[in-house]
Amino acid sequence: MASTVSFWSCIFLLSLIVALSAGEDESKEYVLTLDHSNFNETVSKHDFIVVEFYAPWCGHCKKLAPEYEKAASILSSNDPQVVLAKVDANEDANKEIASQYDVKGFPTIVILRKGGKSVQEYKGPREADGIVEYLKKQSGPASAELKSDDDATGFIGDKKVVIVGVFPKFSGEEFENFLAVAEKLRSDYEFGHTLDAKHLPRGESSVSGPLVRLFKPFDELFVDSKDFNVDALEKFVEESSIPIVTLFNKDPSNHPFVVKYFDSPLAKAMLFMNFSSENGDSIRTKYQEVAGLHKGDGLVFLLGDVEASQGALQYFGLKEDQVPLIVIQTTDGQKYLKANLVSDQIAPWLKEYKVMLVF
Ligand SMILES: *[C@@H]1O[C@H](CO)[C@@H](O)[C@H](O)[C@H]1NC(C)=O
Ligand SMILES: *[C@@H]1O[C@H](CO)[C@@H](O)[C@H](O)[C@H]1NC(C)=O
Repeated sequence: MASTVSFWSCIFLLSLIVALSAGEDESKEYVLTLDHSNFNETVSKHDFIVVEFYAPWCGHCKKLAPEYEKAASILSSNDPQVVLAKVDANEDANKEIASQYDVKGFPTIVILRKGGKSVQEYKGPREADGIVEYLKKQSGPASAELKSDDDATGFIGDKKVVIVGVFPKFSGEEFENFLAVAEKLRSDYEFGHTLDAKHLPRGESSVSGPLVRLFKPFDELFVDSKDFNVDALEKFVEESSIPIVTLFNKDPSNHPFVVKYFDSPLAKAMLFMNFSSENGDSIRTKYQEVAGLHKGDGLVFLLGDVEASQGALQYFGLKEDQVPLIVIQTTDGQKYLKANLVSDQIAPWLKEYKVMLVF
């Protein structure tokens, strides 16, 4: 009799334990919660840790939270280890940490390497799979070796800026400088290196290294440089990766270019129009042509689809029935506007604007 009871209580206990541990599993948080008391110590112990600064009232943070947690759980089994953490930057006690990382808006996500010695801003997607893919790349080498045509085709694609170094051997000053630039700019661009230019798409394939080829999904599609000075190489990458006309529509692969456009210190020309309207082609063609002629004039160009640019239009106090419209914002915040534009007016209007600036 006694043994029967213990048998059943064992079964009962077992199922209870299973239920408890299942519950525990579901509520286990993979994202580490850091604060002023454990931040420095935790960061110093990790070779690669990602920290999100959030505020409890921030809507974008709330939207990100489940995606960030899901990414953390997937990445918890990654090799090398990728740890995701968060800091409530709204807490007074944590404000010192936030200011140390120059946190101005929420969420701000940073990638800390080598125990916190290297800091980079996270510039990847905001949904779980995208976060995982971006961070896997970020935690690997800064530049990937391309050994075959398939490697190169898969790596380069046609949606983003990719920089590939061609080298006769993977050593020497040129190669070291290339890696230094790759390390510095890796959160913005992908870098690869190869011994054989024949693996690369686009352009002359018989070139021999050392050479850097920047691939881009717009304008001339690729551009080469042979200057391996670190500063020169960085400048080459930054300047060559800005499109003559930045497209602002709903395609997320254009988003990094739009962010760069609005970060630019130069004066901004923006043409907003309805991409689905029938007579749009002549305006687009003319705008692209005029922008090409003004390249290097201290003005950067954007072409926005009215369907995707509602926020921007509101920001500038513009109305949908004014499209196609062109607006220039100068570096000191002045605005020049021409509404209900036709293609033949673009060039003379820009010329007039330049005259206004001169006088
Ligand atoms: C953490 O490190 C930063 C930078 O090294 C330092 O300014 C700060 O005082 C440290 N905070 C604590 C709580 O030790
Ligand atoms: C853009 O043009 C399409 C096709 O003419 C039209 O259906 C749509 O309503 C327009 N969108 C705006 C915001 O004007």
